[in-house]
Amino acid sequence: MQTQRIKTGVFGLDELIEGGLPKDSITLVSGNSGTGKTTLSLQFLYNGIKQFEEPGIYIGLSENIHRISLAAERFHMNLEQFSRDDNLVFSDIPALEISEITKIVKSIDDKYKRLVIDPISALTFKYEADVTMREKIRELVELIREKEITAIITTELLENSNTISRFGEEFLSDVVIVLYYFREGARRFRGIEIRKARLTNHSEQIHLYKISSRNPLETGIPCGIQVFPNEKVFS
Ligand SMILES: Nc1ncnc2c1ncn2[C@@H]1O[C@H](COP(=O)(O)OP(=O)(O)O)[C@@H](O)[C@H]1O
Ligand SMILES: [Mg+2]
Repeated sequence: MQTQRIKTGVFGLDELIEGGLPKDSITLVSGNSGTGKTTLSLQFLYNGIKQFEEPGIYIGLSENIHRISLAAERFHMNLEQFSRDDNLVFSDIPALEISEITKIVKSIDDKYKRLVIDPISALTFKYEADVTMREKIRELVELIREKEITAIITTELLENSNTISRFGEEFLSDVVIVLYYFREGARRFRGIEIRKARLTNHSEQIHLYKISSRNPLETGIPCGIQVFPNEKVFS
């Protein structure tokens, strides 16, 4: 049976993963601060509503909703309109209570097809990354799996860490996407890697990506994260 695909609509990304994320799967997007995890998540939700009539939910753990909306606007995504129309639900969890996230997930209505939790790693400010925490994250993931929803969970990696998650989230996810910010001499460039993707014949290269707010009418490329599948970061 063919796996149904949910297009992220992010320029260049879907073609690295057979056309999109497997329907109702959980994807971990991990990377250092400033690599574009929030941008990617917002594009996933925005495109879902705009192009595919799939309402979405954003659960924010590190920035308040106002700042998130402003960030989206820089990339020409007007989220407030979608929020007024109830196609997008914004929740922030300033207290960083995992039980609040669980409560929201439990109450998700069938009409919502896309979910983002950004970034789950913020919970380390409040909880030890210990066995209890891992167990709670596992329970949260189980709850998400009970819903017919395609989810992106982001996690912020510490500078110079050589792991790709904070609580072992990668083992709970179907797809793992890692965002890198490389340095070569005085030059910085960004790379995206599909580290794992169940049910998917995925690219095994690190590909170049850019973050741009140039008006798409000027460049012909939708702004935000732009992936260039034919440009490898290292040859
Ligand atoms: N207008 C812009 N043009 C190009 N890059 C931008 C623009 N605005 C933000 N960025 C880049 O995007 C990064 C922030 O992305 P964000 O999605 O918030 O990252 P993360 O959530 O991983 O911390 C900034 O560090 C900056 O490099
Ligand atoms: Mg962020």
